[in-house]
Amino acid sequence: MDNENEQSGTSGDGRGDETIIPATPSDDDYVREADAQSDIEASEGGEAFAVDDDQGEVFTEEDPIQLFRNWLALAGRHEVNDPNAMALATVDRAGMPNVRMVLLKDVGTRGFTFYSSAESVKGLELEGTPKAALCFHWKSIRRQVRVRGTVEALSAEESDEYFASRSRGSQLGAVASFQSRVLDERETLERRIEDYDAIYKNRDIPRPDNWHGFLIQPVEIEFWVNRPYRLHDRKQFTLGKGGGWKSVNLYP
Ligand SMILES: Cc1cc2nc3c(=O)[nH]c(=O)nc-3n(C[C@H](O)[C@H](O)[C@H](O)COP(=O)(O)O)c2cc1C
Repeated sequence: MDNENEQSGTSGDGRGDETIIPATPSDDDYVREADAQSDIEASEGGEAFAVDDDQGEVFTEEDPIQLFRNWLALAGRHEVNDPNAMALATVDRAGMPNVRMVLLKDVGTRGFTFYSSAESVKGLELEGTPKAALCFHWKSIRRQVRVRGTVEALSAEESDEYFASRSRGSQLGAVASFQSRVLDERETLERRIEDYDAIYKNRDIPRPDNWHGFLIQPVEIEFWVNRPYRLHDRKQFTLGKGGGWKSVNLYP
């Protein structure tokens, strides 16, 4: 086929398309995949993350933030790129959900931080409803983390500090882009970047007022790890009124 995008088109009839949607694994597939994976692991001396592996004890901390940090560090050793990529879900005024990927830039007892434009669709949705959900999925280690919480803007000082640490090209991008608005043609954006480059020649680029950090303060964090035959382990932490975390296990 001429068009690269057409090579793996869906059938569109709701029955899926086995050229792009992997078939549900059979028992034999699980065994084969586990064998293949353990060969690699044996040769690399690494951890075991085959679909059929029991990963052992993974809920190794009583504090969900520390547990998350441990899992993110593990993902960082295995993912091909962006272990800190997370899906960010928001809702619009009508309650219609929206989701897109963003990059986690900080995580600690306060919560989870990302940066964006306050005038983007996500920024406006968060202004209307300052609540969000996050989802991390690390394919390489077959684990997922879900977070729900309230959202507030990071202080100007903290946002300035992060903005100053970005490359000049990324700073220019943040200044020149009307994120999420209609762009007539690529050249318009390129011209805006050149213009701002000239304006800020030999000068530091200031952070645009509408570009800042967003802090998700978690009230619920769920950890999920793949176990053989879809008998996955789930541990859900909920923030109590007194500020402490309580946890329960959930059926897969
Ligand atoms: C891996 C990945 C990381 C991304 N990180 C960010 C980010 O940190 N901040 C951001 O504003 N957009 C990021 N984007 C782009 C967003 O997914 C999205 O296209 C953009 O923010 C506009 O979303 P909105 O129209 O819902 O506001 C990222 C996209 C991908 C695929």
